[in-house]
Amino acid sequence: MNHESLLELVNEMTLEEKVAQLQQLTAAFYRGAQTDSAITGPLEELGIDQNTVDASGSILGLSGAEAVIAIQKTYLENSRLGIPLLFMADIVHGLKTIFPIPLAIGASWDMELAEKSAEIAAKESAVSGIHVTFAPMVDLVRDPRWGRVMESTGEDPHLNSLFAKAFVRGFQGDDLKDPERIAACVKHFAAYGAAEGGREYNTVDMSERQMREYYLPAYKAALDEGCAMVMTSFNTVDGIPASGNEKLMRGILRDEWGFDGVLISDWAAIRELIAHGTAEDDKEAAYRAMRAGVDIEMMTPCYVHHLPELVQIGAIDEKMIDEAVYRVLHLKEQLGLFENPLRGADPVREKEIVFCEEHRNVSYELAAKSCVLLKNEDQVLPLKNEQKVALIGPYADSHDILGWWSAEGVKEDAATLGSALGAKMEQGKLMTSAGFSTKHISAEQLAHARELANQADVIVLALGEDSAMSGEGASRTNIQLPEAQIQLVQEMKKTGKKIAVVLFNGRPLDLHGVYDEADAILEAWFPGSEGGRAVADILLGQVNPSGKLTMSFPRSVGQVPVYYNRFNTGRPMDPAKTGERYVSHYIDSPNEPLLPFGFGLSYSAFSYEEPIFSSLEMTAEEPLRVQVKVTNTGEHAGTETVQLYIRDISGEVVRPLMELKDYARLHLQPGESGIADFTVDEAQLRYHHSDLTYTSDPGRFQLFVGPNSRDTLSSEFTFVTSFS
Ligand code: BGC
Repeated sequence: MNHESLLELVNEMTLEEKVAQLQQLTAAFYRGAQTDSAITGPLEELGIDQNTVDASGSILGLSGAEAVIAIQKTYLENSRLGIPLLFMADIVHGLKTIFPIPLAIGASWDMELAEKSAEIAAKESAVSGIHVTFAPMVDLVRDPRWGRVMESTGEDPHLNSLFAKAFVRGFQGDDLKDPERIAACVKHFAAYGAAEGGREYNTVDMSERQMREYYLPAYKAALDEGCAMVMTSFNTVDGIPASGNEKLMRGILRDEWGFDGVLISDWAAIRELIAHGTAEDDKEAAYRAMRAGVDIEMMTPCYVHHLPELVQIGAIDEKMIDEAVYRVLHLKEQLGLFENPLRGADPVREKEIVFCEEHRNVSYELAAKSCVLLKNEDQVLPLKNEQKVALIGPYADSHDILGWWSAEGVKEDAATLGSALGAKMEQGKLMTSAGFSTKHISAEQLAHARELANQADVIVLALGEDSAMSGEGASRTNIQLPEAQIQLVQEMKKTGKKIAVVLFNGRPLDLHGVYDEADAILEAWFPGSEGGRAVADILLGQVNPSGKLTMSFPRSVGQVPVYYNRFNTGRPMDPAKTGERYVSHYIDSPNEPLLPFGFGLSYSAFSYEEPIFSSLEMTAEEPLRVQVKVTNTGEHAGTETVQLYIRDISGEVVRPLMELKDYARLHLQPGESGIADFTVDEAQLRYHHSDLTYTSDPGRFQLFVGPNSRDTLSSEFTFVTSFS
């Protein structure tokens, strides 16, 4: 269907049919899904009638080829104009083959695998009847109290942008008509990750410059990659809820960035304008959201109830509604639904490819690359063949390793750490004390743990948050491990045995009670369907860990937010000098996080040589070449992520102490050296000035290279322009 035919179709529609296209509901409302009696309840609750449902444009949260086909067929039988229904769902890190949570994927720094994971998620979703995923979530995150940091790739705008692009490419491929791909919906626009105090759904208030510099780039990157949809966020932006924020949606998103795809509200976010206090009732909420440019209303009926009237009284121009409807129909057309409303949905193929071995192998690979070795004193890890190991703790034999946003994933299909280790270790070398909850450990369990620990050469403590402790609606003020687990660590410490801790969790934790006590710590996050096996292989030395944190681990929650690309302040603290009062510091804690952005150890050791510059002056025409020689001085082959950061020494506005500009991943055999070869160009020096222009300035720059944002080698170069 071409542009003209779509316009004709819009013209043929009644106003009621048009606004119904802008309504999104869950499957519970649809004929063909369940018996009609089950539908009556939700209809009454929302106050909508069957005609609206029959004409509504999209559905969320359903997957399964048979169910989708049944609903689509019934829907089309009742559709006057034969417009197919769009099926959307939250496929955030896999459909049934669950990949590590996005924060873990972030730690892989591996764009190819990230893309591959999205491609597989798309393939499994498409065959199960899904057309659109509500992903990628690219909210920049600096506050680990917020439960949804698990959905983001971290605190860095550059890295988040690269991941945003990789995910969009993976989901969408080159052509939305490809029945093995699905449309992506970048979310949550905008700045949802900056909720005050890390409290879910809380206020966001920041300067526009700050928003453009740090928070907006990843959404823009997703759109530059062709992302088909955008979802609004729940928070306010400069006092106006995002879902009713005309400046944000029409101003930045549509007019400035030229986005002409579908913009959907988050769940009930249009009606929530009332609770926010920027709408008196559903009618005003509908008015504001439509004016702001939101096309689809998710799960509340403000549009269907009030847009017709708002048009009749002249408050909303019908043209605005036509445009929104056109965008929805256009997306259906792009996905090929008019030609084939069942698209990729195929119950037979669904059984063949969903959770197939090939997909699980990619999940394994990504899990293996996402784990971050946080500490490894005396090379306690990897475990040695001859060692007797006591595996203890709530995650010793737990299937709860998929993480939030994995509704279609089957926990029981994920091998536990205990079973994966057991399958690889010699008979009799592994003793497991499991069955604990994350928050409570009984006296008998503790006694059993002690008994096993005493018989072992080394203790592996598998600890963490349960998966419901992160994700949406799971903000915490205390981000330590639950008290019972800290006590378990203390008890185990008394045995005098070496302790390796494996952490399963969805956010950077405050590691009090664990970090100093453990000899080794492996951050496994929620590693997904194959996570148990991947972690076991790392513990046994069959895989060398290579993940690097993309979110800082604070020393305590009192430091939060703590992130690497911070400002210096006028009175920076010199860590070498303590006891100075009038410097920017805490009297009870260092300023630096416990574990900085970019940090992650390996079973190998890597040494860095001073970077070699092609010149100490750079111009817009002649970029700099910076080469860093890195040698694997350890005994294992390993991968090192060499990071390059830049500081603009003097800006028109204050510039961060350092910003990640590039990185290179080197795979090195023992004794082997490699060169990380970087090009630094003018575009990398640009930033938002006080008038919001995005340009670079001539002057001095510091350049840092290293294995993380803390342990760097630094040099200087000058950027010269013909005016400087
Ligand atoms: C979340 C979104 C999600 C939507 C639909 C909301 O509560 O904030 O991220 O896509 O629900 O499930």
